[in-house]
Amino acid sequence: MSSYKTRKTPGDTTWFTQDRFGMFIHWGLYALPARHEWVKSLERMSEEKYQQYFNIFNPDLYDPHDWAAQAKAAGMKYAVLTTKHHDGFCLFDSKHTEYKSTNTPAKRDLVKEYVDAFRAAGLKVGFYYSLIDWNHPHFTIDRMHPRQDDEDAIKQNEGRDLTIYAQYMRDQVTELLTNYGKIDILWFDFSYDGSEKWPQGKDKDDWESEKLIKTARDIQPHIIIDNRTGLEQDLWTPEQFQPAEWVRHEESGEYVTWEACQTFSGSWGYHRDEQTWKSPEMLVKMLINTVSVGGNLLMNVGPTARGYLDNRAQYALAAYSEWMKYNSRSIYGCTMAEPDILPSLPQDCRYTQSEDGKRLYLYVYTWPFEYLLLPGMAGKVKYAQLLHDGSEVRIEEGKLNHFGVGLPEGEGLLVVRLPIIKPDVIVPVIELFLE
Ligand code: GLC
Repeated sequence: MSSYKTRKTPGDTTWFTQDRFGMFIHWGLYALPARHEWVKSLERMSEEKYQQYFNIFNPDLYDPHDWAAQAKAAGMKYAVLTTKHHDGFCLFDSKHTEYKSTNTPAKRDLVKEYVDAFRAAGLKVGFYYSLIDWNHPHFTIDRMHPRQDDEDAIKQNEGRDLTIYAQYMRDQVTELLTNYGKIDILWFDFSYDGSEKWPQGKDKDDWESEKLIKTARDIQPHIIIDNRTGLEQDLWTPEQFQPAEWVRHEESGEYVTWEACQTFSGSWGYHRDEQTWKSPEMLVKMLINTVSVGGNLLMNVGPTARGYLDNRAQYALAAYSEWMKYNSRSIYGCTMAEPDILPSLPQDCRYTQSEDGKRLYLYVYTWPFEYLLLPGMAGKVKYAQLLHDGSEVRIEEGKLNHFGVGLPEGEGLLVVRLPIIKPDVIVPVIELFLE
């Protein structure tokens, strides 16, 4: 058993920390302008202008079974879809708004199709729900809002009543958690401070987070909820940042359950012109790095306006598929290596260890010439093999059996003898069977 304990939380995270790898999906009207999911705010777009996208939204090639198949092939075990993003547009048939996919030319509840498809593929299903809403008439203008620069912005805020909006959120969360069966994750986004011009930020008091979370837990008590409502729940969510150590609780210092969320290219929604796509090697290493310090990775795709994953996204997912096909055993049910093992980690390598402690996975980021030295590991390893093809890797104990001078030796030393040529795997993994 892994000796690491994480801070106790209200939801059920046992499956989550086993599964390790999920697909984030940002999809909505912003796929049409295709230049960032924040486009309405970034360009201070008028309602009329943004309405164009609503009027023609018709993802004729939407096939969530295909998304699910690609997620599954990539080794992802769960997904989180934007049921509503900051623009307020709902991909589901809500009774509490007209601003929803069923009223566009799409005419369908796209959330329902997603849930059915992902569930059918055996993946767990999560909902992202934006706390921010630039469409709701009672959501007050603030430093993020598309209307923030309007001369009469302050005046526009008169009569807006956030408590009505907070009730709207509870009503929608009720719908989302009642109408689609068991939902595994509820991913709220997000709370923020004010600015000089707009001193009022928005946080748990504005969202009425306690009531909101109670609404959710009354319907689905097990559900995993993130921390972005301003109230601590199950999940810490570093965004576009890879922690180098297990994330700890701000006050108690305990390890927490965490999930890094990342994009392939930069923006979350489909961005046609973005050129900053990560390489397959970087993508695979981000997953390994995450699990090596006890976290999950939620990797994002932004489907196109017509509803499919473009070539670049498919190519990025394929990098995971290829690698995970042979190496997923080092990811699922694995976590940070035990404290007594960590000091043996060679340069340019990472470790993960299986939950039962019996297997240690050594990821070789830079292929060295023939020898990897693991101080302190002699006597602990029964057998070693390359994970992707199950071919033996020879190990020796005590010292390097070589006539060179000044080579390290010592009772605890484990010498791993690698093939000269790096195997044709993005990141080769050595599986060490522990005593
Ligand atoms: C940010 C962005 C948002 C995205 C989210 C994902 O908070 O506002 O566009 O959905 O990150 O973590």
